[in-house]
Parts: sequence; C-alpha cells; structure tokens
Amino acid sequence: MKKVGIIGVGEYLPEKVLSNADLEKMVDTSDEWITTRTGIKERRLVSKHEAVSDLSIKAAKAALRDAKVKAQELDLIIVASITPDFQFPSVACLLQNALGAKGAAAFDISAACAGFVYAIIIAQQFIARGNYKNVLVVGAEVLSSITDWQDRNTCVLFGDGAAAAVLSEVKSGGILSTYMGCDGSASELLMVPGGGSRNPTSHKTIDNRMHYIKMRGNELFKIAVRSMQEAGEKALSLCGLSAKDVDCFIPHQANVRILTAVASRLGIAQEKIYFNIQKYGNMSSASLATALCGAVKEKRIKKGDIVLLDAFGAGLVWGACVIKW
Ligand code: COA
Repeated sequence: MKKVGIIGVGEYLPEKVLSNADLEKMVDTSDEWITTRTGIKERRLVSKHEAVSDLSIKAAKAALRDAKVKAQELDLIIVASITPDFQFPSVACLLQNALGAKGAAAFDISAACAGFVYAIIIAQQFIARGNYKNVLVVGAEVLSSITDWQDRNTCVLFGDGAAAAVLSEVKSGGILSTYMGCDGSASELLMVPGGGSRNPTSHKTIDNRMHYIKMRGNELFKIAVRSMQEAGEKALSLCGLSAKDVDCFIPHQANVRILTAVASRLGIAQEKIYFNIQKYGNMSSASLATALCGAVKEKRIKKGDIVLLDAFGAGLVWGACVIKW
C-alpha cells in the first residue's frame, strides 16, 4: 500500500455577504440569537447565475496550482455535493470538461456534510492501491438554492462555497487512519423531501415547500456531538494516537457549540479547533473543505503536524480522518 497525502488545497467563496443584520430584515430573528446559538455572524451567497460547478472550477484550479499538478495529470475527480447543477450529469463531469482533465474519470458522491471526508477516504483507496496517481476531491455547495428563506429555523444557518484538495502518493506522513459511520434510521431529521423519485416535483411539492431543507435541529444536536466524538476517537485509536497528539482539529462547521462540545469530549484543547463558521455559516460538504484550506493558508498547520478531520451530516453519516501533514 502506498502512503497517500494531500499535496495542495484551494477554495472559492462567492463575494456576496449576507450578515445577521440582513437576516433580521427577512425573518423574525436577531444577531444576538444567531450569534449565541450558532456562532455565525455572516455567510456568502452566490450571484444569480452561479452554480456549484462554477464554484468548483475556481476552487479546483486553485488547488491544482497549489499542488503544482496539471489538470491533464488527474486520474480521477470526485465532487461531494448535495446541490449539484443538475440531477445528472454529475458536477464532476462538468468539472472534468472545464478543467480539460481529459484523462480523468469523474463522479459525484452524496454524503451531505460528511461528503468531503467521505470523498477523501474514497480517493485514498485508489491511490493507496496504485490504481491512480493524482485525485482531485471537491466539496462544493450552493445551499442557498435549497434554503427556505421564510424559515428562521434553517435560513440563518447555511451558506455557499467550495474548496478542493489534490491527493497523491507521498514519501512520508499522509493519511494515517480513516473511519466512516452511518445511521440511516434517523434520515428524516435532515432532508429535502421533494424533487426526487419519492416526491417528484409538482405544484403540490412546491406549494408545500418540499424542495427546501427540513431540519429537526434540536434532535440532531446531541447526535452530532456523539457521532463526531465517536468518529474522532475511532480514527485516532486506529492509528495508535490520542487526542493529546492532535495539533489541529478541523471539524465540520455546523454550530460553534457542537464543535466546542466535541473537542472537549475528545480531550482536545479549544485553541486547537479551527473555525470558519463565523464568516461562512454551514456550507455542508464545503465547510470541512474550506476549513482545511483556511487552516493551511493561515499556517495553522505545519509540516509534521497531526490533523484530525471530523464531520457529521444528513443520512445520518459521519466520518473522520487523521493526517500527518
Ligand atoms: N431566531 C430566533 N429564534 C429562533 C430562530 C432564529 N433564527 N430559530 C429558532 N428559534 C427559536 C425556536 O423557535 C425556539 O423557540 P421556542 O422555544 O419559543 O419554541 C427557540 O429558538 C429554541 O429553538 P431550538 O431549535 O431548541 O434552538 P437550539 O438551541 O437547538 O438551536 C440550532 C437551533 C439549529 C442552531 C441547533 O439545534 C443546531 O445547531 N442543531 C444541529 C444542527 C446540525 O448538527 N445539523 C446537522 C449537520 S449539518
């Protein structure tokens, strides 16, 4: 088995900023409520004609530049997204064409907020076995397209963005262990009920606002904390490390209170948590991706550091990955 590492990262956040003050004018909420309950101050939104592939292309180009890998050298592209441009073709195929990555196979995965860590784990398999050399992994979302802007329970939480990572064989360090979990029995806690084959789009699904995110946030909160704790513990123990060894903890950015609770249950010092939720909100698969990119760019991670990626989302699914940088 070959050692696999992340050799480049890049991100793209749309320019438009929606602040808590802006939301106060749209629904019955307050900056105080949003800040204290979630930690979010603002989030980014796409412009009218921007879709997930547009964000993905910019993030992917930045990651390829950072990795010094040409698009033609990619063997595989995996995009994690729950808001693809179309039901089909996949975003990964649109990206393959836009990048000119003629030699690359391409597919999307659907693992919601855990999508980026799931995609990294999938990419690792191909490289470790020697099937592929360079794999591009993208986490990209336009959650504003499935957000009900009349529902204060959800619309204050989400944002749009994308980030990408290039994975390749490395001589030392790299991914030390991975873990993935799932509990499909609680899938109704977080879903978009309309627009699929269960409830195809109709006047009725639109009138009932079934094409928007429905979330039972309060019930999810405890499960999120428990699942992310489990994922972090399992991934660390699989490579013989403990929380004390972690230099940078990069979790999915669902809620500041969830992240601080997970870190304290794992025994990771609060200052080791990387946050970007205050400026971007929850961007599902793009949250972990942009958080990793931000931590690298802000030099919160240096060579030799132990990094713990940990995510949880709709499905329910969760996963973690320990990387020696
Ligand atoms: N502004 C003001 N009040 C709001 C509000 C808003 N934007 N949204 C909800 N409220 C109100 C509720 O109506 C409720 O009022 P009530 O007590 O009169 O009924 C009150 O605030 C408390 O609501 P609750 O849902 O219990 O709040 P909470 O502390 O659980 O915070 C979340 C809500 C969504 C922020 C939180 O539950 C959460 O982050 N959940 C987990 C999300 C998650 O993990 N998702 C999966 C991964 S992406």
